[in-house]
Amino acid sequence: MRTPIIAGNWKMYKTPQEAVAFVNATKDQLAPYSAAERVICPPYVALPAVQAALAGTEIAVGAQDVHWEDQGAYTSQISAPMLQGLVKYVIIGHSETRAYQGVTDEMVNKKTKAALAHGLHPIIAVGESLEINEAGQTQDFVGRQIRAAFEGIPASDLANIVVAYEPIWAIGTGRNASGEQANTIIGAIRGILAELYGQGAADAMRIQYGGSVKPDNMAEFMSQPHIDGALVGGASLKEESFVALVRIAIEAKGLA
Ligand code: 13P
Repeated sequence: MRTPIIAGNWKMYKTPQEAVAFVNATKDQLAPYSAAERVICPPYVALPAVQAALAGTEIAVGAQDVHWEDQGAYTSQISAPMLQGLVKYVIIGHSETRAYQGVTDEMVNKKTKAALAHGLHPIIAVGESLEINEAGQTQDFVGRQIRAAFEGIPASDLANIVVAYEPIWAIGTGRNASGEQANTIIGAIRGILAELYGQGAADAMRIQYGGSVKPDNMAEFMSQPHIDGALVGGASLKEESFVALVRIAIEAKGLA
């Protein structure tokens, strides 16, 4: 049984003060739901305060990106050694970083290797545009993203990696994929991982869905056999809705 993982990607929302207020208000409510891994990914500047506020809880902290070099002349960037001790997870290859910061498949691969080398757990995000989806090329496109991300990653690292399938057309649009559609693509991703690493390793890997996930549709996703959790933007910003997502995930997986 794969442990469900629900991660809130806060994107460029919440000041450090707002972030701490959120975790202080929710940590006791989230505490009983230990059957799922719960992760908060605030903006970089809130990481130290959120990490401190969550010390002693089982709620994990994640960063939203990482550079592939340990240090260097990369104005604005944050490296894996800088995140050590602050976060467990790091989102890599989110479509917004691919679109606005020019992150390529090759960079995703280098960032993944850097994160793993420093003991961080990558959440590798992949997903297709509406155009690719409508052309019926989703599986090919996402398959290429997966193969590129995992290039040269040894099987011994797999247990520390999570994959998130986030169709770009579903992000922040209110237009989510259906549970069945998402399950089909996530099943295909698992198939590629099986090709690369063997069925056992692929069956052990956790793969999330992301894109307009809300308490209303969470059960639809979490009741699908291949979907192990959610990477949530908008609905993770409200205290009651994030707590509800975690509760619904556990219920849908029969872990309540
Ligand atoms: P929304 O949940 O706001 O659609 O965002 C999804 C996402 O991009 C999470 O990484």
